[in-house]
Amino acid sequence: MKLTVTPAKRLAGEIRIPGDKSISHRAIMLGSIAKGDTHISHFLMSDDCLSTIRAFRQMGVPIEITNPETVIVKGQGLHGLKAPNSAIDAGNSGTTARLLAGLLAGQSFNSIITGDDSLRKRPMDRVIIPLRQMGANITGTQDKYLPLSIRGSALKGINYHMPVASAQVKSCLILATLYADTPSRIFEPALSRNHTELMLQAFGGRLDIYNNEIIAYPANQLYGQHVHVPGDISSAAFFITAGLLVPNSTLVLKGVGLNPTRTGILDVYKEMGGDIAIENTSTSGGEPMGDIIVKTSNLEGTVIGGQLIPRLIDEIPVIALAATQAQGTTIIKDAQELKVKESNRIATVVDILSRLGADIEATDDGMVIHGPTPLKGNQVDSFGDHRLAMMAAIAGLIAQGETTINSWECVNISFPGFYDVLSSLQK
Ligand code: S3P
Repeated sequence: MKLTVTPAKRLAGEIRIPGDKSISHRAIMLGSIAKGDTHISHFLMSDDCLSTIRAFRQMGVPIEITNPETVIVKGQGLHGLKAPNSAIDAGNSGTTARLLAGLLAGQSFNSIITGDDSLRKRPMDRVIIPLRQMGANITGTQDKYLPLSIRGSALKGINYHMPVASAQVKSCLILATLYADTPSRIFEPALSRNHTELMLQAFGGRLDIYNNEIIAYPANQLYGQHVHVPGDISSAAFFITAGLLVPNSTLVLKGVGLNPTRTGILDVYKEMGGDIAIENTSTSGGEPMGDIIVKTSNLEGTVIGGQLIPRLIDEIPVIALAATQAQGTTIIKDAQELKVKESNRIATVVDILSRLGADIEATDDGMVIHGPTPLKGNQVDSFGDHRLAMMAAIAGLIAQGETTINSWECVNISFPGFYDVLSSLQK
């Protein structure tokens, strides 16, 4: 399916941002292995999260979807999962595959995890290596890729220095340690999103956390909770950027998650001169949230790297778009991880934005963008990557003429209904 976008004169209005994808996955996972019911409100009903629901249903967990955003998970207790009778298909979802690998390594049954064409090309050795150190019996295609074949085994805790900051690897090891007989000590080179840590503590799990070091403990039992999922800042990112770039705009984005491990985009846009304010803050399950008010702004180039990268990794495509409209040069560095996302996001971002007339070059660990350059509509590909499809749609609002995005349907991975929401704001 193709989508054609034409320039917007002005954006205005108030929208509620759909639930956070990372938190929605974790609520299904922890709810499934807890005792008692877990009620999840403002759940993200998207393809990736449905992959996680399907996986746990396959393992005997009753999961009711009572309306599109409310889910009740009938927890089976820590040792209550059943052997799946066929391979678990994580679809496009790296979070499903990598967190499940940890959760399944210490079960009393065997399992297979596979995924779609994109996910089967993404590295799984980053979880295979430390899980094996814990005693897991796990093999992957070429020791590196899905499908993973896991024989449930007795696990022990490890001391592990993660080579890259990755919340998926960290969470995988925390979940595996729930089933181990000794604690694990996990070090990250930079702090990645900490939703697993916050939610696990709310469910009664034990962790000791010192900056970039975590001691994760085996569990006896976890207890079902009410989880309210905040709006996903990674989804809000497209509207924040649109509000900054489209002339005469003011947007109010309600109920957005503001966990400091995720708010790098706000820091960067403020640094670039963006008019962004936060109102109505609150906290739910340890997760801060609030409303974001964004107004059209003149932006300046900046340098983005180091410890900031894990705090905005999924927002880099749309930040690169903003940088094409900023005065001066923007350098994005230390972001090699972009190469192993849903697409190689260094190559694909540069491809899309150059086709639209941006002055952008790929580097080995990021990209360099010279702005401002007027954009011109063209045909671009989403590369099956949801965040690129949405970035291109926002680019289409400020490009001259028509911008057509091929393989648009991948937006359903994280944001079904994205274009309807965007259209409702065009004045
Ligand atoms: C996620 C962690 C990040 C992020 C991904 C979701 C998570 O990946 O890019 O979209 O839910 O833990 P890495 O852990 O590989 O950096």
